[in-house]
Amino acid sequence: ATYVHPSSSPLLTSEGDEKYANVKWEELGFALTPTDYMYVAKCKQGESFSEGNIAPYGDISISPCSAIFNYGQGLFEGLKAYRAEDDRIRLFRPDQNALRMQTGAERLCMTSPSVEQFVEAVKLTVLANKKWVPPPGKGTLYVRPLLIGSGAILGLASAPEYTFLVYASPVGEYHKVSSGLLNLEVNHKYRRSHSGGTGGVKSCTNYCPVVKPFLEAKSSGFSDVLFLDAATGRNIEEISTCNIFIVKGNIVSTPPTSGTILPGITRKSIIELARDTGYQVQERDVSVDELLEAEEVFCTGTATVVKAVETVTFHDKKVKYKTGEETLSTKLYTVLTNIQMGVVEDKKGWMV
Ligand code: COI
Repeated sequence: ATYVHPSSSPLLTSEGDEKYANVKWEELGFALTPTDYMYVAKCKQGESFSEGNIAPYGDISISPCSAIFNYGQGLFEGLKAYRAEDDRIRLFRPDQNALRMQTGAERLCMTSPSVEQFVEAVKLTVLANKKWVPPPGKGTLYVRPLLIGSGAILGLASAPEYTFLVYASPVGEYHKVSSGLLNLEVNHKYRRSHSGGTGGVKSCTNYCPVVKPFLEAKSSGFSDVLFLDAATGRNIEEISTCNIFIVKGNIVSTPPTSGTILPGITRKSIIELARDTGYQVQERDVSVDELLEAEEVFCTGTATVVKAVETVTFHDKKVKYKTGEETLSTKLYTVLTNIQMGVVEDKKGWMV
């Protein structure tokens, strides 16, 4: 690969300083603040990605007939870079995003970058934009790797060319709700995913259809929407952008990653941390009835981190859960973010 390392790159000038000076770190939400550089690599179908470069962040040129535009052949990933008090910048489990992109690429008949190239591309993007990693406590640099069918194809087939692109934006909280707690609506009209479909990979096409039920929930005063399984309509699956957990006694339960929900990297990490904390974690079908009888409910995701759910509404039934300092979700949030922010030793070897 012909990488241009940022430290030796003539692209690294003071360009963008005005934009940088105007960033209000305290007010960051989950919205795009364009940074200076992105990583771009291309490959032809049947070949492997070899060329990758850091380029100025900006629009890209793409055929109107590209597979991503016409048939939605695309995957995205999301991970974060954290600036610690010692000013070091760390990534959380980037290899896991690389592996998930490979699984998705296989499902969508795309060529994917190797794990090494993926992680290197993420590192290069973060280093090129390192001034955009927010100060500790003010947010994180959200890194968005994309793998798209960029080549032109008119008949339905996989694209003749792929683009792997990584860009980044400083972000704050995803669910910026004043109480800091989520009020969910269980949706009984729309389904997000079905067995044999693509719900278990991070396909771009999984997300657009979620916007309508999400907006409907918002317009009814809820903070987000929870989907049920397509087969029975009795089990909970996931929220629009994150995974869900319920707690009862010493048992934590979460729907299994059997193809219809996204295998979240925060989900997987929280399962491990909850077990370390002495809880029994069950990955299994979780019915709406159990959800309504739970003591505590929380959700996890890269953008979301760990967020407590205050209420769940299903038809005309509204249930309130335990929230606050004494909950498992608060405990797990602290344990996870302490690892991510370099506050405690990373005994798991998760940080890069
Ligand atoms: C993430 O949490 O990183 C996601 O990919 C969800 C996204 C739709 C914001």
